[in-house]
This record gives sequence, structure tokens and C-alpha cells, in this order.
Amino acid sequence: MVPFVDLKAQYHSIQDEITSAIRGVLESCQFTLGKEVAAFEEEFAAYCGVKHAVAVNSGTSALHLALLAAGIGPGAEVIAPAMTFVATVAAIWYTGAKPVLVDIDPQSYTIDVSRIEAAITPRTRAILPVHLYGQPADMDPLLTVAKRHNLLVIEDAAQAHGAEYNGRRAGSFGEMGCFSFYPGKNLGAYGEGGLVTTNNPEYVRTIRMLRDWGAEKKYQHVLKGYNYRMEGIQGAVLRVKLRHLEAWTEARRANARRYDTLLAGAGVVTPRAMPYARHVYHIYAIRTSQRADLQEALRQRDVQSGIHYPQPVHLLEAYRDLAYRPGSFPVSEQLGNEELSLPMFAELTEVQAQEVASAIRAFAKR
Ligand SMILES: Cc1ncc(COP(=O)(O)O)c(C=O)c1O
Repeated sequence: MVPFVDLKAQYHSIQDEITSAIRGVLESCQFTLGKEVAAFEEEFAAYCGVKHAVAVNSGTSALHLALLAAGIGPGAEVIAPAMTFVATVAAIWYTGAKPVLVDIDPQSYTIDVSRIEAAITPRTRAILPVHLYGQPADMDPLLTVAKRHNLLVIEDAAQAHGAEYNGRRAGSFGEMGCFSFYPGKNLGAYGEGGLVTTNNPEYVRTIRMLRDWGAEKKYQHVLKGYNYRMEGIQGAVLRVKLRHLEAWTEARRANARRYDTLLAGAGVVTPRAMPYARHVYHIYAIRTSQRADLQEALRQRDVQSGIHYPQPVHLLEAYRDLAYRPGSFPVSEQLGNEELSLPMFAELTEVQAQEVASAIRAFAKR
């Protein structure tokens, strides 16, 4: 059997470190925020090459608070790609602002920067690029457009821990960067977690308040806030795992190169790492016009796979009120119809990758 991800294999490789980190939290009884979370914030900020990080309880909360800290609210519009996980658009909606969607680029699968200007209106306040599958959006031209129109940039880096654009880390380009530590992410907590990166101390102050009921000091509620605090155990687990992240990322990249080679000429479109990108392959996304049949053929050989995502956001029932239609974003819709995610994790063995590739090749020949 080839699993889609193997969280157990990773856990077993770091079991002793994890046990002792969790025991430390149990002894300290710092179950929410606390020393471990504060240390993780510092270490993750350094890892991203930014001055500050504020840890929260999910990637969705990170996006929500980053948008609020940027002053986004009712009457504002925020531009985001149509093909993303629903949380990107949901977070815009939470603030009362209107999500305005733009199609993706057919090569990189990230927001098509050449289409952003047509989506800008007098109400546009921010652009929210998503570094989909672990590949950064094309940030230089995007930042140029943002500057020309005086827009803020907030990165959705939920899938892009350690990804780089021309040598700079994801999460260091915009006013703020938002990360998720959902367990299956490249850096995953043992529960939920998220974080906002920034170089701006004002945003740090606001987000620190908003994540803890809007209080700067206990019971002095300056803002109408939320309970979005990161748990102490998650901070401790993430500190352990951050020490391994570079090795895991290089292993993912090696696995991707192996797939690229094994799948050449196998009748599927393999992912394109753009020249500017250090792609961290949160998802190894292939494309095929025969997705349902290929997925079934893989299943019959005990190879798990995934779809990220079957529908772009504008076609989801919950977002019908955005008033887009089928055909509004053809590239996103094609990806929704054709994308298939192959097993991808640091511990994936050569034998497993060969099994996946041979199942795909057998399907092509049938
Ligand atoms: C692109 C993207 N944005 C936002 C999120 C939300 O993160 P979380 O699940 O931690 O709330 C996720 C992950 O689930 C994601 O993949």
C-alpha cells in the first residue's frame, strides 16, 4: 500500500524528541501560548527571514486576523485566486469584505498576475496570493501591481513553509504572511495551528491582541477580539519539527524529481517548478483528462491519491452569492477537473514512488 501521506512514519522518526517536548509542557502547565509558543514564534520568524511572527490556532485564523489588522472590512474588496482551498476566501468573507476572484496561470497554478489589474476597483484594498501546492506566486510583478495601485499584499503561505521566490522565503514578501500547521502540512502540528509573519510591529501588536480577546493586559479589552490562541503543546511540537523541516523539504524535492523522471512520457502532465521558485511540494499535482479512471486504477493497486481541489471556489455552493458562473475562470476549472495529487511526504521510498509510477504507466498503456 502507498499512503497519500504517512504521518506515523514521521512521528516514529522523532518520537523521543516529541515525547520530551510534550512532557515539558505538561510539567510547565503552560497550555495556551506560554514559553514554547513564544520561542516557536521567534524561530519561525527567523526561518522565514522576517522580524516577527504571531502564532494562532489555525491557518484560517491567521488569514482572518491578518486581514483585520490590515484594516480590511465591510466595503473593501480583496483579490484572491479562484483556485485555492476555501479558507482563503472564507477569511475574506469573515471580515465583511468582498472576495474578488482572478484566474490562475496554467503553468504555475498560482494567481495569474496579468489578470489582476482588470479586477481592481476603487474599493480594492488588498491582494491575497496563494502559494498553491508549495510554489510561490509570481511575487515581483504582483508587488509591482500592488504598489502601482496602493494595495496591501497578504500572502496565503499555508502550503508553502520554506518555499522561496528568487531566494527569499514565502511569508516575507507581503505586509503579512499566513501559515497553517494543520497536521498534513509540510510543517504540521499535532492538532491545529497557524501563524502570521510580518516586519511591522503595529500588526504584531494588533494580532497579539485580536488572538486573545482584544486585550493588551488581562481584562482590558481594547479591541473586539477572538479566542485564537495557539496551544502550548502545539508550540512545543512545532519547535521540534522545525528543526527537521529543511531535511524533510529536501526529501520532498528529491521525491518530486524522482516522480518527474519516472512519469516522463507516461501520458500525464507533471508539475512545473517555475525558474524563480523553490517549490516545496506540499502537493505533487499531476493533470490528466482521465482523472476518475486513473484514480480508480491507482486505488486498485492500493495507491492512495487526492484531489486539490475538485471545484474552484467560485463553483462551490457556499459562494454562489459571489455571482460568478461556470466559465468565469477556465484555467481554474480545468485544474479542478484534471488535477490528481500523488502520494508525497519526506519518507516516501524509492520503491513506493516506482509503484505509483508503474501504476500510472500501466494505466496509460491499457
Ligand atoms: C491555501 C490554504 N489556505 C488556508 C488554509 C487554512 O488553514 P487551516 O486548515 O490551518 O485553518 C489551508 C489549509 O487547510 C490552505 O491550504
